[in-house]
Amino acid sequence: MPLTRIATGIEGLDRMTGGGFVERSANLVEGAPGTGKTTLGLQFLVKGIVDRGEAGLYVTFEEFPAQLYADAARMGWDLRQFEADGRLRIRFTTPMELLQSLEEVNGDLEREIEEFCIRRVVVDSLSHFEFLTDDAFQLRDIEFRLVSAFKREGCTAIFLRENGNILGDTNSISRSPFVVDSFIVLRYVELDSAVSKAMLVLKMRGSAHATDIRRYRIANGGIVIEDKFDGQEGILGGAPRKSRAQAFVEAFGRKR
Ligand SMILES: Nc1ncnc2c1ncn2[C@@H]1O[C@H](COP(=O)(O)OP(=O)(O)OP(=O)(O)O)[C@@H](O)[C@H]1O
Ligand SMILES: [Mg+2]
Repeated sequence: MPLTRIATGIEGLDRMTGGGFVERSANLVEGAPGTGKTTLGLQFLVKGIVDRGEAGLYVTFEEFPAQLYADAARMGWDLRQFEADGRLRIRFTTPMELLQSLEEVNGDLEREIEEFCIRRVVVDSLSHFEFLTDDAFQLRDIEFRLVSAFKREGCTAIFLRENGNILGDTNSISRSPFVVDSFIVLRYVELDSAVSKAMLVLKMRGSAHATDIRRYRIANGGIVIEDKFDGQEGILGGAPRKSRAQAFVEAFGRKR
């Protein structure tokens, strides 16, 4: 039986993922500061509310709601109105509190998810759970419990994660991708003395996905995915070079 898809509503991303996220899946979006993680998360919720009438929950540990409202307003999204309509819930909490309220039988979070028929969840960010323990196994257990709890509630979730590396080097990426169903990386890329942003789907459980690296920008209305980085190698390293094929074409002209 084909998996039901939850379209993110972010054009380009839905094409890259073969139709969106799998229903009731956990999806990790990792990127350096300012790459647009919060924007992507909010856009996923706003698109769900506006295009499909699906209610959303935004969990934040760091950004005060006032800041979130202001950032969203710059994108053209009136979060207060969505909240007033009962279509969006924003929770400013701590990792420990979130975990406890999710695991409590008939806890307030479970009741909230049911009462408001919440289908889409964003947790900003998974990085904060790293402060709970130094032990890698314990952290993986915590992340697994978190991911499972939202699935159990029937939600499709995005977990944002900070990656301090501004440019390049994927080696520092944590082990969290193992507990999630899909993994998207946002990167800064230096190209011709300018910095662009690149998006890549590294993992998509249960389906094919685009493996090319896409350029994107942040605009009013959210993330806009653009063309591929054609003829470049080393994008993931942050400092691309022309592929040998591209260098050949430039040196000798395209073969007729
Ligand atoms: N209306 C807008 N038009 C274009 N760019 C914008 C707009 N609003 C914000 N930005 C850009 O979006 C980026 C911030 O996006 P966002 O807050 O989603 O990133 P983030 O990855 O969540 O950052 P952090 O790691 O700090 O939480 C900034 O670089 C900012 O310049
Ligand atoms: Mg953010």
